Amino acid sequence: PPLLFGDERKNSSGLDLTIGEVRENLRKAVAGLKPLAAAPLIGGETLRGENRRAARAPADGAEIGLVSDASPADMSRAIARARAAQPEWDRISGPVRAKILRKMADALETERERFIAILAREGGKTFADGISEVREAADFCRYYARIAENDFVPRTLPGPAGERNLLSLHGRGVFACISPWNFPLAIFTGQIAAALAAGNAVIAKPAEQTPLIAYEAVKLYHRAGLDPDLLHLVMGSGSKIGAALTADPGIDGVAFTGGTDTAWAINRALAAREGPIIPFIAETGGLNGMFVDTTALREQVIDDVILSAFGSAGQRCSALRLLFLPEDTADALIHGLKGAMDALVIGDPSDPATDVGPVIDMDARALLEEHMARLARDAKILHRLAAPEGGSFFPPVLAEIPSPDFLTREVFGPILHVVRYRTDRLEEVAAKLAAQRFGLTLGVHSRIDGFAEDVARLVPAGNFYVNRSMIGAVVGVQPFGGEGLSGTGPKAGGPLALTRYAVERATSINI
Ligand code: SER
Repeated sequence: PPLLFGDERKNSSGLDLTIGEVRENLRKAVAGLKPLAAAPLIGGETLRGENRRAARAPADGAEIGLVSDASPADMSRAIARARAAQPEWDRISGPVRAKILRKMADALETERERFIAILAREGGKTFADGISEVREAADFCRYYARIAENDFVPRTLPGPAGERNLLSLHGRGVFACISPWNFPLAIFTGQIAAALAAGNAVIAKPAEQTPLIAYEAVKLYHRAGLDPDLLHLVMGSGSKIGAALTADPGIDGVAFTGGTDTAWAINRALAAREGPIIPFIAETGGLNGMFVDTTALREQVIDDVILSAFGSAGQRCSALRLLFLPEDTADALIHGLKGAMDALVIGDPSDPATDVGPVIDMDARALLEEHMARLARDAKILHRLAAPEGGSFFPPVLAEIPSPDFLTREVFGPILHVVRYRTDRLEEVAAKLAAQRFGLTLGVHSRIDGFAEDVARLVPAGNFYVNRSMIGAVVGVQPFGGEGLSGTGPKAGGPLALTRYAVERATSINI
């Protein structure tokens, strides 16, 4: 049967931020960070790379390291080395590969303070988010290790007497893993762990905004005992390195997490290739809604909405974007939400008191400002917090829009849009959301079972949350990923996650 963590579940335990010593150690880890450097890592060797540039912290713009990009020639060399190393990695079978992934999980936990510090500086992540992210990265390694052990050994199938029938799973070859800046450790490590567990070699391309943590993670994989020829790091822009990578005939599959527009571009590039038809695993954005009815518990709604919309500065693909409030209780809920927003601490992510850190960079902030101009012109801004000085801060915003189709694309940041609806017109308003054809997360707050069922029927989504927040899917507990414009599946951290990273082979032996 497909694997679930079940009784054997052992998610990583993380750190308790209520303990003074834990906070102090994290502060020290940030203060003790030396200037970092990231460059292409091919076969374990750090190259000089091209186009050296400074990496800057979103919180204050300070230079935190130097980054250089891969050249197309570096990439071709990486692919050739990966192709040569992969068959042996596939042959050694799942249980042996699992051991290395478990070592990686342990190493992440041993070095977690340093990783959390880099996440705070490079990714603008609060300590709480950094802790969850290291946990998730370790969880992915252990979870996929279990699947490799369980499923990546040949199975005997029933058949006629005198015949032996086997079914086995194998790696496809070399996977390109293209990851986003919003989970620069968890998604980066998780994609790689999935591809490796299934018996593939990997060329990893991190987001341009977060190469430093990616470089550290690849080094850690190698230190955990992985043959460096099985995992190479190439950084650079999506339009140059990303495009060259997906066009290369030496790539046997692509795992991508990022924007829907980029997913379309990759899909077109893959369709234009000749040769084997390769899988494209995409996790993209969402226009995630939460429907509240008149029976919902107000305090619980407010807590869950604040966390879902403004946690991680709204920079999660799972984040709540559209809050549907019944006309009868909307004013009271909006009043409560404004009060709860006022209690949020916006500031330096390395301060444990901070609830909301900066957005990733000035470009991201400019896009949000552009959207604000549209909201100010064509909708209503209900509440906006003040931004701290310096850094790429964009304070949380509550706005009201007339209808869900006011939004046609994901707005990636801490802007929550409220839509008032008449409960006898639920179908109409839900249909407008479903018509957008995203399908990532969906939430409901109600004490009537039938209401949650109606919403789930009307708005298809990969992850449905009832009477709780909509973010923070846990590996093996809430397998994560969307449908339609939000992704292709299979779900990250779920029992079927490795299926598209692998091929199946059936062998029949007449004895
Ligand atoms: N997996 C994350 C979450 O559930 C989103 O990317 O919040």
